[in-house]
Amino acid sequence: MSYDECYIKSVMRTIPDWPEPGIQFRDITPLFKDPKALRMIADSFIQRYIDSEITHIASIDARGFLIASIVAYQLNIPLVLVRKKGKLPGETVYEEYKLEYGTASVEMQIDAVTDGDKVLVFDDLIATGGTVLAACSLIKQLGGEVIEAAALIDLPDLQGSARIQDAGVPVHALMAYE
Ligand code: PRP
Ligand code: ADE
Repeated sequence: MSYDECYIKSVMRTIPDWPEPGIQFRDITPLFKDPKALRMIADSFIQRYIDSEITHIASIDARGFLIASIVAYQLNIPLVLVRKKGKLPGETVYEEYKLEYGTASVEMQIDAVTDGDKVLVFDDLIATGGTVLAACSLIKQLGGEVIEAAALIDLPDLQGSARIQDAGVPVHALMAYE
């Protein structure tokens, strides 16, 4: 089944003024109740990366985990976690950054990736780009090379994908909301 953006957008839901006034929250949860939509999305990423050089997927807490794990399973490559700070045991590295709403910090275990690993950073949505850029910084600190950042949704008005590309990381998003 080929990817159909109109179908996916018909399944998606936008919640105005959540979690705070002025935010148009792009809610992906209906996609997980619709097996056709989920399969279309996962298959689209799988086709893009099946013959690529990537060796690892770094998935971002929490909504990024949901689709990244399906893609990593199908590609038969390791899935590593970029979690909100304080969730991972053992020795870690972390990075603080700003969100569209509030601030946050993400963390990785120091053995998640190592020298020579070619990593795809995967999240559900790129807004300001802060989360993906923080993940890229952690991966580089650990010796990995970020090959691309992938997301279901880009919010280009917030210029996150442009910031990520300016930092030298290509971005692939399945759809955009202006
Ligand atoms: C959301 C989204 C991305 C991030 C994008 O995560 O899932 O990770 O914001 O924003 P940015 O491009 O401005 O960094 P959130 O922190 O809301 O967490 P969740 O996935 O756990 O709901
Ligand atoms: N994360 C950051 N901004 C968001 C938005 N507008 N909708 C859904 N998730 C988000």
